[in-house]
Amino acid sequence: MSLSNLAVTCADPALLAQAEELALRLQLPLAQPGEQHQLLLRCSSRGLELLKLDDPNMTGSVRVDFTSGAAVFRRQQTGKELLLKAVGCKGRAKPAVIDATGGLGRDSFLLATAGCQVHLFEQEPVIAALLADGLARARLYPETMNIAARIQLTVGDAVTFLRALQVRNEQVEVIYLDPMFPERRKSALVKKELQLLQLLATADPSADQLLLSAALSVGNRVVIKRPVRAPYLADLRPSHSILGTNIRFDVHLRTRVNLTAANDTSG
Ligand SMILES: C[S@@+](CC[C@H](N)C(=O)[O-])C[C@H]1O[C@@H](n2cnc3c(N)ncnc32)[C@H](O)[C@@H]1O
Repeated sequence: MSLSNLAVTCADPALLAQAEELALRLQLPLAQPGEQHQLLLRCSSRGLELLKLDDPNMTGSVRVDFTSGAAVFRRQQTGKELLLKAVGCKGRAKPAVIDATGGLGRDSFLLATAGCQVHLFEQEPVIAALLADGLARARLYPETMNIAARIQLTVGDAVTFLRALQVRNEQVEVIYLDPMFPERRKSALVKKELQLLQLLATADPSADQLLLSAALSVGNRVVIKRPVRAPYLADLRPSHSILGTNIRFDVHLRTRVNLTAANDTSG
C-alpha cells in the first residue's frame, strides 16, 4: 500500500478520461485501488471535489459551487456586502476588478453578481482547478451564466501580471487582495474550507508584501480584506477602512498613497 499526499480519483467510467487529463495537467498520480492518500481530488458528476480522508475533524469535501446554498444567499444579499462598498461598486458605478487572490472565488462571484467585470488570479494549481470547475458549472445554469461570464480566470501569480502592467505604464481601476490569514472566521463550513485551503496555500507575509507593492504600483484603488483586528498588511496605513463584525476592508486610494509616500520620505 503506497501513501502519498494528493491524488486524483474517479469512480465514474464516463469521467475517467477527464480525470486522467486533470492528473496529467496537475502532475498528480491517479489513485489506484488499495492505495491510501491524505488528500483526494475527486472527479464526479457533482463536479471536482477535494477530500481529506485521514482526519475525522475535516471529513466531507470542498468544491466550488456558485449555484446553491450559501452562494445563492450571498448573491441575493449583494446590497449588504461591505466588499462592494470597499471596491466602489455603487449605483451605476461598476468598476472592473482584478482579484489577485482568487481562492474559492466567493468574493469574485459576489463582485460579478453586482455587475463588475472580474479578472481573477489563482496561483495554486489545485485550487485553480476547483475554481475553474465551479465557474464552468456556473456557466451552465440560467441564473448564474451571465454572472460567470463576467469572470475571467488566470492560473498563475498575479504579481507577474501586475508587474507587466507597470512596465507598460497601465493603470487599473480596482485591485482586490484577500491574502491567507490563519483562523479568521467562525462559521464551521468556512472553517473547514479554509483549513483545506491552508493545506494547499499557506500564509506568506513576504509574498503578500510583494503582492501589495505590485498592486499599489498600478491600482487606482487597492482593497485588502483583513481580520477586523489584524495589523495593516505590510504595516501600510490605508486611506480608510470599512469595518464589519469579523472582517475589515482596508482601502488604499492612489492620491492618498502618493501623499503617504511623500509624507514618509519627508519625515
Ligand atoms: C484567502 S484565499 C482567497 C479567498 C477568496 N477571496 C474567496 O472569496 O474565496 C487566498 C488565495 O490567494 C491565492 N494567492 C495568494 N497570493 C497569490 C498571488 N500572488 N497570485 C495568485 N494567487 C495568489 C492563494 O493561493 C489562495 O488560494
